[in-house]
Amino acid sequence: MCGIVAYLGKKVAQPILIEGLKRLEYRGYDSAGVALLDGGAIKVKKTSGRINALEEILDEPAPSDSLGIGHTRWATHGQPNTVNAHPHLDYTGKIAVVHNGIIENYATLKTWLQNEGADFASETDTEVVANLIAYFYAKEDQAPGQNKFEWAVQQALRELHGTYGLAILCSDFPDTLIGAKKGSPLILGVGSSEYILASDAAAIVEHTTQAIYLADNEMVTVTPDAFHTKTIDNVTITKDLKQIEFSLEQIELGGFQHHMLKEIFEQPDVLSTCMDGRIDRLNNRIKLGGIASYLRELTRTKRLIMTACGTAFHAGLVGEFLFEQLARIPTETEYASEFRYRNPIIEDQTVVIAISQSGETADTLAAVEQAKERGATVLGIVNVVGSSIARATDAGIYLHVGPEIGVASTKAFTAQVTVLAMLAIELGRRRHISSNDADRYIHELSQIPDKISSILDQSDHIKEIAAANLNEENWLFLGRGFNYPVALEGALKLKEISYIHAEGLPAAEMKHGPIALIVDGMPAVFIATAGPQYDKIMGNIEEVRARGGKIIVVATKGDENIKKHADHLIAVPQTPELFQPLLTVLPLQLLAYHAAVLRGHDVDKPRNLAKSVTVE
Ligand code: G6P
Repeated sequence: MCGIVAYLGKKVAQPILIEGLKRLEYRGYDSAGVALLDGGAIKVKKTSGRINALEEILDEPAPSDSLGIGHTRWATHGQPNTVNAHPHLDYTGKIAVVHNGIIENYATLKTWLQNEGADFASETDTEVVANLIAYFYAKEDQAPGQNKFEWAVQQALRELHGTYGLAILCSDFPDTLIGAKKGSPLILGVGSSEYILASDAAAIVEHTTQAIYLADNEMVTVTPDAFHTKTIDNVTITKDLKQIEFSLEQIELGGFQHHMLKEIFEQPDVLSTCMDGRIDRLNNRIKLGGIASYLRELTRTKRLIMTACGTAFHAGLVGEFLFEQLARIPTETEYASEFRYRNPIIEDQTVVIAISQSGETADTLAAVEQAKERGATVLGIVNVVGSSIARATDAGIYLHVGPEIGVASTKAFTAQVTVLAMLAIELGRRRHISSNDADRYIHELSQIPDKISSILDQSDHIKEIAAANLNEENWLFLGRGFNYPVALEGALKLKEISYIHAEGLPAAEMKHGPIALIVDGMPAVFIATAGPQYDKIMGNIEEVRARGGKIIVVATKGDENIKKHADHLIAVPQTPELFQPLLTVLPLQLLAYHAAVLRGHDVDKPRNLAKSVTVE
């Protein structure tokens, strides 16, 4: 949550900060601001609202300052108004800070600083950081032969509990930028004669593809000619320059109206990329290089626990079916926020798999730490290369689907399920299923991208279904077996971006309560594809029809029988039941997308949400 960008170089900083903030806006978008410095005083401009609201209050032409920090906010402490927007200055105006994360002990520190004479303007935890640095900075005599600004930052950081990605300016050091990280991501892009410090590579890649990734409790001091990395305890560390793996093209809209739509339509290509090099189609073998040294342990494991949040949790639920069905490994999928606090039982030979698009979700990261502390081998299924979860896990499998910008996750879900399917087939071959069956499943899985394309062709038809039901405020999504997690995901998508209330349920559970909700015309989306539970779900469809519900069905192509039971029908190609989520979720992604657009919502930046939830 929250996006940070800072620039130090030879160019005019302001437009670079604004461009960077626009690329990070998906991380939070309730208020924004910049602080510039070029000798003399720090100049802050900030406002509630989005980056374009900030642009309206900026000086034109842009000030010539070539050092600055910027922020786009997702409020945690204090309302999303102008006073609470970042950057925050200390009360003397010498130190400016932008922050991503939460300072847990801010209330104690604030009282203490107030007693020391500091004034506070905002309700934020971040203002405490600025005033704390200023407090130490004022202690002239205690900086032991070190850059005083850097020393004061280190002293302050040691007092903070919680998480932070910080970019900091000091008006006495007009050519110095300091960044620090604990629990929230921070990357320094290293260009020729310029540096961009940001929460996410998306704000950097336009300027350079070389970067260093700070680890927790590390800081970087940047000056025009060099950067120095240290621990916050002042121990110098050497960090390798890494290549940022994605291009500017990947994060631009490329002719689509929204990132979400682009990402939905990218799925055939990115799933092929995700499988490329992992599925050897000639020999029908799966090779998962990232976890190769853990395959023996996985094959012998007695229990798998998957942990994740949001859409990634739904992918984990599909994975649970896959591991149990193909490899007969007892598997549970747990919300990371519950797992981390439930005193989990981790027995010998338990393997934990954390699933996360961003690799930064605070609860998932904490669940990883919790599992490691209890002695489990922890593997990651992550999209963002070098992210906190990718680094915290013992080994892992990257999705390789490129950046996902739309707040509502789409291509990451199908890629997570694809990775889980590849792993389950491989473990299945080693534990439970015959080589012939494994070969057949590999063949079927590799057909999925083409089959998705034929679903995307129905986008206009799905838009008509969304339009016909646009005024309904309550929807049900129902599925059984492998398609039960898809029902949950379909409901989540609709809630996230169209703000329509929706519930996802295992279809048979409907009669234990939710059936009472059904009134005339209420849409009920059934996933009724061919499979062992087809007849059962037909029964559930009739139960809803009998009570006046509007029946929208996702069914297998060629199912003539279902036509007479449905008000609206969306056909998906045939595939074995265990891979159906990779197809049946597509119509539901498109349904949510079209409903949100038709309702006039900002699909890529839905209200109150953020792409990467780095707070509890
Ligand atoms: C947020 C996003 C969701 C995402 C969830 C988990 O809530 O809005 O789209 O599914 O976080 O994110 P992760 O990056 O861990 O997959």
